[in-house]
Amino acid sequence: MSKKPQFASKIGLIAATVGSAVGLGNVWRFPAEAQANGGAAFLIIYILCVFLLGVPVMVTEFALGRSGRSDAVGSFKNLGAKKFWWGVGGLAILASYMILWFYMVVAGWTFEYLWQSATGALYSPVAGDSGDLSARFAIKMKEFITQGWNPLINTYIIIVLNIAVLIGGVQKGIERLSNVLMPLLFLILVIFCCVSLSLPGAPEGLEFFLSPDFSKITPGVMLNALGQAFFSLSLGMGILVTYSSYFPKNTRLTRTAVTVSLLDLLVAVMMGIIIFPAVTTFHLEGEGMRGATLVFITLPEVFAQMDWTRFWSSLFFLLLTVAAVTSTISLAEVIVAFLQDRFGFARLKAVFTALLPLFLFSTICSLSQGPLDYIQIFGRNIFDFLDNLATNIFLPVVALLMCVYMGWFAPHNLLKDQLSNYGTISTRLYKPLIFIIRYIAPALIALVLIPALL
Ligand code: PHE
Repeated sequence: MSKKPQFASKIGLIAATVGSAVGLGNVWRFPAEAQANGGAAFLIIYILCVFLLGVPVMVTEFALGRSGRSDAVGSFKNLGAKKFWWGVGGLAILASYMILWFYMVVAGWTFEYLWQSATGALYSPVAGDSGDLSARFAIKMKEFITQGWNPLINTYIIIVLNIAVLIGGVQKGIERLSNVLMPLLFLILVIFCCVSLSLPGAPEGLEFFLSPDFSKITPGVMLNALGQAFFSLSLGMGILVTYSSYFPKNTRLTRTAVTVSLLDLLVAVMMGIIIFPAVTTFHLEGEGMRGATLVFITLPEVFAQMDWTRFWSSLFFLLLTVAAVTSTISLAEVIVAFLQDRFGFARLKAVFTALLPLFLFSTICSLSQGPLDYIQIFGRNIFDFLDNLATNIFLPVVALLMCVYMGWFAPHNLLKDQLSNYGTISTRLYKPLIFIIRYIAPALIALVLIPALL
């Protein structure tokens, strides 16, 4: 078998991992959750979840991948784990693949909006337009997402882009792309923060975002924050296991996990700083903050009322496309690595075997928003069913079982050796970490899981 590839630089490795973590979860899920759940009160709980649970679970996944030096299944196998644990890796791979089916579609929407912003078509009136902007953008959203070839063509463009990058391999494909796109993403975020802070509603918006309303905090909200942290950090999907199998021996796992989590958190907070002032300035609070509505209806309303509409709108959807595409690449790499390591496929063959079926699966997901909406599984269309199953059930199950494996079943000293790079750096954090991995994380993740299963 060919030699395992590695990331070429520390920066590249962090850029790629942050690229996976920063996605639509930061851009549209986080602000919506914060708005609904008490602003800064949610933020504080979210930060606790990220550092007390997210970082330890991330370190665990890193340790598993770097010591197993293989894909999500192979890493367990290389460590001599029983077959049951290979199944956990297999579930992670399945979850990644299912998420990929619909994430490609959503990434396609962001690209469609980028294109429509650049041409100005997004801002042209629709038939029977009364001048009501929310009605106009709601019609456009329906049109772009559910009708005709548009959503399909955009999905296919994103799939082809993924293929092109993944064929390049770890260093020349994933790492090189992340090294360009991540700085670009942060640059665009900084620009938008400046614009948003200069809006007349900025003080009021920030006050809402940054002053905590603890009365909104319930046990349910805490579980939401935990779920959001796991989704946002891309935990429990085999991504971090796969990427860390490309980490060099001297990478400091704890430091890397803290850096990635901090940057992911920073993006979420910056999105809050961008969205809340904009929404209060143009009085778009309430329903307009929910999920896809926020980015595809509410924000176009904001841009339509600003000077340089097309420019700001294009820049924002470029940000969204970048965030989404780097996440799809990390999801796809999980499958590609699996095919390469398990079946000895050459890179090219693995990429095509993993991605060509998406032309079918993602098409079905896309059509399930429109013409195939009548197909319902447990009361949801195919798209929402996959989303719910993969993110609310498979993700916590895998994360929980990985903690159990690393905490109780993995070879003695494995975690310690990985944290200390075989005794070359300090392991001060080992004790608290193993305590969290053994007891706290499994218990809390189980709590998130129970309501999802009921
Ligand atoms: N972490 C990504 C986000 O915040 C979502 C994601 C989930 C990406 C799973 C890859 C895999 O949007």
